[in-house]
Amino acid sequence: TEGVITIDPGYKNTGACESAITFLDGEKGILRYRGYSIDEVAENADFLEVAYLLIFGELPTKEQNDKFHDDIRAESYVDEDIKKIIEAFPKSAHPMGIISSLTSALTAFNPSSVNVESEADMYKSVVRILGKMPVLVAWTYRKKSGLPLDYGDNSLGYVENILKMMFKKPNGEYVQNKVLVDALDKLLILHADHEQNCSTSTVRIVGSSHAGLFASISAGISALWGPLHGGANQAVLEMLEAIQADGGDTKKYMAKAKDKNDPFRLMGFGHRVYKNFDPRAKIIKKAADEVLSQLGIEDPILSIAEGLEQEALKDQYFVDRKLYPNVDFYSGIIYRAMGIPTDMFTVMFAIGRLPGWIAQWREMRLKKEPIGRPRQIYIGATERKFVPVEER
Ligand code: SDX
Repeated sequence: TEGVITIDPGYKNTGACESAITFLDGEKGILRYRGYSIDEVAENADFLEVAYLLIFGELPTKEQNDKFHDDIRAESYVDEDIKKIIEAFPKSAHPMGIISSLTSALTAFNPSSVNVESEADMYKSVVRILGKMPVLVAWTYRKKSGLPLDYGDNSLGYVENILKMMFKKPNGEYVQNKVLVDALDKLLILHADHEQNCSTSTVRIVGSSHAGLFASISAGISALWGPLHGGANQAVLEMLEAIQADGGDTKKYMAKAKDKNDPFRLMGFGHRVYKNFDPRAKIIKKAADEVLSQLGIEDPILSIAEGLEQEALKDQYFVDRKLYPNVDFYSGIIYRAMGIPTDMFTVMFAIGRLPGWIAQWREMRLKKEPIGRPRQIYIGATERKFVPVEER
């Protein structure tokens, strides 16, 4: 006989694990990485330092931090055969599809599943994936832009090198812009982990079968792609551009979002956990204001976004359902100011979320969690006899 099985669609009230990595308080809008508040971390650390904190549990000493940066720099190349794979994609391929395929390809290039019990083995896998992902991202962008696939400059910082690898001219020319480097570093930090969200739960369940780290991350990338999750940052920009094309008629889109017969949702609003503001959205909105004013960009999309936020904050439907801007609502405005195309926004989210996926995968494996295999309540046909095709 079966035990009691309770169905919990979307696991809204199910805890999948115990974790010591990230703490969220949805009512108070609190987000902490290994006990450090997101505001302090975003203000004082750089992305790789945060990656180290999330994965290994402590802020690195200066020596550990410098070595981590150097070891990742030493891994910032990929097998030349990867270029042949990228060349095979049509220009129309979506970057998220390319990136999840390339991450799977890295699995093929690195078949030996990491020995998670060995700190040295785990460290090597961590620096390998953090070193190689930016190259895959830059080459994906350059493939779609018809630019040559080559490397950046290893004397630069991690984020500087991402921007240079993506945007340098064919003759190698690229002028760094500190405003953009700082903004991207902060954005990656804000996306770094978020407890048991859809893509992280995917990485955990795939990894629970003892699939390798690269394979588990490739699955996480696919889950992140969905417009209800990380794909929302692309959907937000497309929504704001549609509103702009529609004469800035935010009221029409608010009405659509509330119309139960209309599948349209206000992208970038609402959250499973945050029933008040999303602390990341506040930081990103401030960064968006700073980036646009420091670059002297008057982006009409920003004022449409702010208008929409103001309307939603006082709309009873949204207030009743505690729908506030989330991490995806303003991030696209900064990516756009950097010259990153809309279909690459979720790829930038994936670079940011890498440390979280790695940290959660490692925690799940070190705790020797059992393979994820939920049950169901069967509601299909009762037993019936087979009918040969001639008699059907
Ligand atoms: C991310 O989990 C994470 O931590 C994710 C993330 C991370 O860092 O990993 O924070 C990143 O994915 C942020 C969310 C990005 N997605 C979007 O912006 C897409 C739009 N948002 C919604 O689809 C929705 O709010 C979700 C998916 C974010 C949350 O969905 P839930 O918790 O399942 O809530 P629900 O769909 O049950 O909605 C509750 C009610 C419903 O109305 P009623 O049936 O009660 O009348 O609120 C309504 C929904 O129709 N609603 C919305 C809405 N979001 C919820 N109505 C209009 N517009 C919206 N955006």
